[in-house]
Amino acid sequence: MSTLRLFYLILAVSASIHAITYDVTVPTEWWQTNVIYEIWVESFKDSDGNGKGDLNGIKSKLDHFVDMGVTCIWLPPIYETPMVDSGYDISNFIAVNSLYGTLEDFDALVTAAHELGLKVIIDFVPNHTSDEHEWFVKAKQGIEPYYSYYVWNKGVYYGDYLSYPNNWLDVFNDGTAWEWVDEREAYYLHQFSVHEVDLNWRNPLVMTEMKNVLTFWLDRNVDGFRIDAVPYYVESSTLENETRSDKDVDSTDYIYLNHTQTKDQPENYPLVQEWKDHINNYTASKGNDKVRFICTEGYSDIDYVMKWYDYGDDFPFNFNFIRAGDIANEAVLDTAEDIYGIFVEWLDNMPSGKTANWVLGNHDFSRIATRIGLYRTDGLHMSVLLMPGVFTMFNGDELGMTDTYLTWEETLDHSACSATNTTYSLISRDPWRTPFQWDNTTSAGFSTNSTPFLKVNPNYLTVNLATEKEADFSHYKNIQQTIALRNTTVWREGTVDVELIEDQVVGIARQLDGEEPIVVLINWENFTVTVDLDNYFDGLPNELSLKIADIYSGLSAKIEDTYSKSSIELPEYGSMVLLGTTSA
Ligand code: GLC
Repeated sequence: MSTLRLFYLILAVSASIHAITYDVTVPTEWWQTNVIYEIWVESFKDSDGNGKGDLNGIKSKLDHFVDMGVTCIWLPPIYETPMVDSGYDISNFIAVNSLYGTLEDFDALVTAAHELGLKVIIDFVPNHTSDEHEWFVKAKQGIEPYYSYYVWNKGVYYGDYLSYPNNWLDVFNDGTAWEWVDEREAYYLHQFSVHEVDLNWRNPLVMTEMKNVLTFWLDRNVDGFRIDAVPYYVESSTLENETRSDKDVDSTDYIYLNHTQTKDQPENYPLVQEWKDHINNYTASKGNDKVRFICTEGYSDIDYVMKWYDYGDDFPFNFNFIRAGDIANEAVLDTAEDIYGIFVEWLDNMPSGKTANWVLGNHDFSRIATRIGLYRTDGLHMSVLLMPGVFTMFNGDELGMTDTYLTWEETLDHSACSATNTTYSLISRDPWRTPFQWDNTTSAGFSTNSTPFLKVNPNYLTVNLATEKEADFSHYKNIQQTIALRNTTVWREGTVDVELIEDQVVGIARQLDGEEPIVVLINWENFTVTVDLDNYFDGLPNELSLKIADIYSGLSAKIEDTYSKSSIELPEYGSMVLLGTTSA
């Protein structure tokens, strides 16, 4: 079956009392109902006591995903790397990072995951190679074809003074995106760190090389790819300067400029289509009906993001709970209206027949529990999990893990190390990359080593998987129970209606004839509210029963209580999942 097959035919079909009901067509492929779990390999589970996570560690913990109901794991770069950017600086695309294990370990992990019914996707990082990649080592010596794999420029003379080709900046706030190489008497381009050299996507040989990379991993039976940094592949060939933004920041700061020449260029889109075609051709050539999918990472305005759907992308990550469009602007999650707005913005803009998706956290940005407060995380998880489409979760978020304070001396992230000891904390991505909290033993059960590569969050004594599994109510149990509801017909096929209630509650109803509806209510404010669902949703039964509740508001004590739909009291920050009966 084709992965391009139309799935969520989301159309505004009928106006309920206040808002639009979106009709959801039936998912036909496995990936369309996925909960994807991002494993930050370095901090997930250490199997050999060296203080760093590895592939065998992951293999030893696969039952965690099965227990939670996760269906697909995503491994960020596991390739050979000098680890300047946690492995996104790749020195060999077809070898495994020796810190993480071997190719045999990778194969064993994929096999073990498949045996448990789990899918495995990996990161594909086509924008750049490490400066230690053999291609770049040869390019620096002027050896073709490798020299032309990268973007070079001789610079501009102002009198006798040689300067950068233009004012472009790198994303990591290091300043110029150009680096001089004496041997070549030229600059190379790097949109990310100076050690991540941009590939020249105008050179067809680069496409050939990277398709070979895809084939290599397809041969190892992966189920799909998360494609890295899609807005950055091709830059404007005119090399025009970028204009000054309205941000009052240092001139080396990435957001000092408007990135009209280096980001979201139209030439990026067909590249993704070509990779997708390559993957489909590979599958067809094997004569089997294995279905693989791709998803893309890009922080851009909604129009640029939605366009990926038209270029072979099964879905572009929906980062709107993390960033407001551009990478520079943090998402505003202050009010119920903000949350409501994020839900409807995606559904309103998504091309018809496509798969929606929701992301609350990843390895690049502060944890959701830190950004919105623990009181609100259960509710937000309930809502994104019960919306139609894919949900992508960052490891540890299922426990309510929060960012960890790290000193300047403890900081490892490249982007922060190039800052100062007063500014590093604004930039470092280490606080959310600390070890996974398995239990309350040494290093939170992450490693037998008591000094792991990043320190464990001191809250591990209470915030850990073992404790949360034992508790009657916990973040983990709530997530597990909510994921289980995704196996219902009403979740798969039911309409979705999202409402802003009394300006402080987000309400979601999933309904289908003959099935028990699912209703999610989250009170985003710190005061009690009573809601009358009749004012907002058509067709709900008179009585609803409380099935899942957040762990702080006291609602857990009311599980299985019955509520009249016309009067539901939500305490401050209270959130609930209610199920109805079909008799209205
Ligand atoms: C993506 C990754 C990020 C990495 C960057 C450069 O944005 O998510 O972690 O630093 O690409 O590869």
